[in-house]
Amino acid sequence: MYYPQELIDQVQQNNDIVDVINEYIPLTKKGANYVCLCPFHQDSNPSLMVSRQKQLFKCFACGEGGNVITFLQKYDSKTFVEAVQTLAERAGIKLPENYSGEYSKENQDKKQRLIECNTEAARYFYALLRSSEGKKGFDYFKKRELSDETMKKFGLGFADINGNLVAHLKKQGFTDKEILDSGLGTHDERNGLRSKFWNRVMFPIKNQAGKVIGFGGRVLGDGEPKYLNSPETSIFNKSTNLYAFDLAKASRSQYFILCEGYMDVIALHQAGFNMAVASLGTAFTPGQANIIRRYAKDIYLSYDSDGPGVKAAIRAAKICREFNLSCKVINMSPYKDPDEFIKALGKEEYQKRIDEAKNAFIFEIGVLRKQYDPSDPDENTRYDMEVAALLSEMKDEVARTNYIKACAKEMGITESSLSSMVAKEASKNRRFAQTPVLKNGIHEKKDDSAVKPQQLMLTYLAEYPSIYPQIENIITPEDFTDATYREVAVKFFEDVRNGVASPARMVSMFEDEEIQNKVSDMFTSYLNGIEKKEEKENALVDIIYRLKANALEEMKNGTGALDPAVFMKKKKELMEIRRIKIQLPE
Ligand code: UTP
Ligand code: MN
Repeated sequence: MYYPQELIDQVQQNNDIVDVINEYIPLTKKGANYVCLCPFHQDSNPSLMVSRQKQLFKCFACGEGGNVITFLQKYDSKTFVEAVQTLAERAGIKLPENYSGEYSKENQDKKQRLIECNTEAARYFYALLRSSEGKKGFDYFKKRELSDETMKKFGLGFADINGNLVAHLKKQGFTDKEILDSGLGTHDERNGLRSKFWNRVMFPIKNQAGKVIGFGGRVLGDGEPKYLNSPETSIFNKSTNLYAFDLAKASRSQYFILCEGYMDVIALHQAGFNMAVASLGTAFTPGQANIIRRYAKDIYLSYDSDGPGVKAAIRAAKICREFNLSCKVINMSPYKDPDEFIKALGKEEYQKRIDEAKNAFIFEIGVLRKQYDPSDPDENTRYDMEVAALLSEMKDEVARTNYIKACAKEMGITESSLSSMVAKEASKNRRFAQTPVLKNGIHEKKDDSAVKPQQLMLTYLAEYPSIYPQIENIITPEDFTDATYREVAVKFFEDVRNGVASPARMVSMFEDEEIQNKVSDMFTSYLNGIEKKEEKENALVDIIYRLKANALEEMKNGTGALDPAVFMKKKKELMEIRRIKIQLPE
């Protein structure tokens, strides 16, 4: 389903990364590069670097990096193919239409039609709400204290009693199949195709790009179901979309507020909390956490204060932890949900509750505490053990240590006793054994000294490809001990030899986002602010020495014993490297 490499190269060559990023975020020139505030973390000093020469971007603070395609993928949450398509269009390159798969032209066109169908329905509902037929819907929203402006901002509407929507859509040229596939129509034997929604106030649901992909519809009074939602369709994926995310993202807030209901989000926005979002009639999902973490590191849960709300908050908090989102719980009591809270106490009080929000884990153990009788020592022990078990599930060691500290204080026991309980729990279930290596994790730090010269070497070569003939007899891809580095080195050396070296192209060799970051790292190491040519040349020799020394060390320690004679010979060669001279271009 992927386009051929040559075509991807062509798309990249015709979309200069500096120009493209500048269309999204204004860039400032700094030396040979450009910089701006990084959109991938809360940045106060410009830490995103964009290199025209390498066609790469790299944030020196949060580590996100990649080429122009990766940028669109990350910034706009596009898929690889969508990003290529956008850039092709920008450069006026025609992409082949006859390849199959999810992103084929045919499928994209179909989806486009379904979005148009939903958009048309939103227009229809919107107009109806403002007509005499929709007056009761309008009155309903007014009763719930929504302003005209708010109703407009959220595109609220009304579905009429007869469900005339189907006829309207047909008149607009949509086929029965399109109406069914869009989730707006249902089919039954007796009545044929009819509108799924009728006599409900309507909440259009938009994707990140602000396109209508589905609806939630609420009954005007009591009735079941209270909210009826569009079914999952090829354009409406409930687990990777959030209600009002397009608006919340645009608020550029440092955090998001996650609530349960559509009305909660709307009430919060009306009170000025533009960073509020909600899941879509389902529980909060990992897919949603993954989207949020691209825009903010903090999340505030504003869930209902009842039993199910508390349970849902704890589940959401767990997901947040897995995505390294710092999660806090807003206390809504004595009110049921944020909508009612704001109505009763106003936005200032809500802001206070945000400021006082409790760390979600501390909140969780507080909830747990209530299930155990504090006057019974056995119950207390069981409670302590349960908290220890929860702590033992934490993957990040630093976070775990900090939480042990905080929890011990909360529980009134010593840090060391909680710590040993956690260790016991951990050995019980051997969860630590499965701990994956995290980005910037301990694992990576450990062999940093070995990777660093490999990174510097590739960066030098990317900046000065013309030095290759001077090093080609000294360095081989085998000297790169890290597997990904070696894979890149093989390809990059080959491209350098062919005179087509492009770091940006290396990034596209990999699909995994973390690996793409890593590859960007390889070509963007900070060259230590050395300005003088001669000093740079000396530094380069030192890098080559360290690279070779490390490779030799690996060889010695690796499997398959190294012949002592060979080792001595290599060692001698290594000493020679100190004496070589590399000349950088003027
Ligand atoms: P709630 O039942 O908490 O309602 O549902 P609410 O948000 O307070 O609604 P109002 O204030 O009575 O209008 C929270 C969310 O759960 C989903 C909806 O997304 C709703 O916003 N839900 C609820 C459904 O999908 N279907 C239902 O029948 C009920
Ligand atoms: Mn409510």
